[in-house]
Amino acid sequence: MDIRVLRPSDIPHVQQTNITNLPENYFLKYYLYHAMSWPQLSYVAVDISSPPKTPYDPPKIVGYVLAKMEEEPADGVQHGHITSLSVMRTHRRLGLAEKLMRQSARAMYESFGANYISLHVRVSNKAALALYRDTLGFHVIGTEDKYYADGEDAFSMRMDLDYFR
Ligand code: ACO
Repeated sequence: MDIRVLRPSDIPHVQQTNITNLPENYFLKYYLYHAMSWPQLSYVAVDISSPPKTPYDPPKIVGYVLAKMEEEPADGVQHGHITSLSVMRTHRRLGLAEKLMRQSARAMYESFGANYISLHVRVSNKAALALYRDTLGFHVIGTEDKYYADGEDAFSMRMDLDYFR
C-alpha cells in the first residue's frame, strides 16, 4: 500500500471512492479547489499489489483524506480542517485512515503552522469516532444540531497539534 499526496489526476477516482463510502459528496471543482489551494494536505492510499500495466491505467485508490486550511477562522487561530475521509470496505482495519490522517496533520503543521485540526462527524458514526477520539486524540468540543442534510447531528471535534512542536 502506498500513501502519497493527492494529484489532480486522482480526483475522479477519489470522487468515486467518496460516493461509494459516504452520503456527503462534492462537485469536482471543490476537490480541485483543495488540490490547487493546499496541495500538501490531501492524501490517497493506493493499492499497489497489482501495479498498472500501462501508464493509462488508473491508480487503484482505496482511501483518501481531503483536507484544507480554514480560510477565515472564527477564533483567529490558524487551523486545518478535514473535509472528508474514507477507506474502501475491502481495505478497512489496516491502519490506512490513521496513516492518512497523520500525514495530513503533519503537513498542516509543517506547511501552514496549523495549531489544531477540526472536523465534523455524524454522532452515530462509531467507527470514525473511535478512530478520531481513541486512536488520534481528537476531543468533542460541541454538537451541531441537524448538521447533515438528512437531519442527523454532528459532533464538532478538534485535535491540538502541539505534539509536533
Ligand atoms: N469499529 C471500532 N473502531 C474502529 C473501527 C470500527 N469499525 N474502524 C476503525 N476503528 C478505530 C480502531 O481503534 C482502529 O484501530 P485498530 O484497528 O487497531 O483497533 C483505529 O480506528 C484505526 O483504524 P484504521 O484501520 O486506520 O481505520 P480504517 O482505515 O478502517 O478507516 C474509517 C476508518 C475511515 C472510519 C472507515 O471505516 C470508513 O471509511 N468509514 C466510512 C466513511 C466514514 O465514516 N468516514 C468518516 C466520516 S467523517 C469525515 O469525513 C470528516
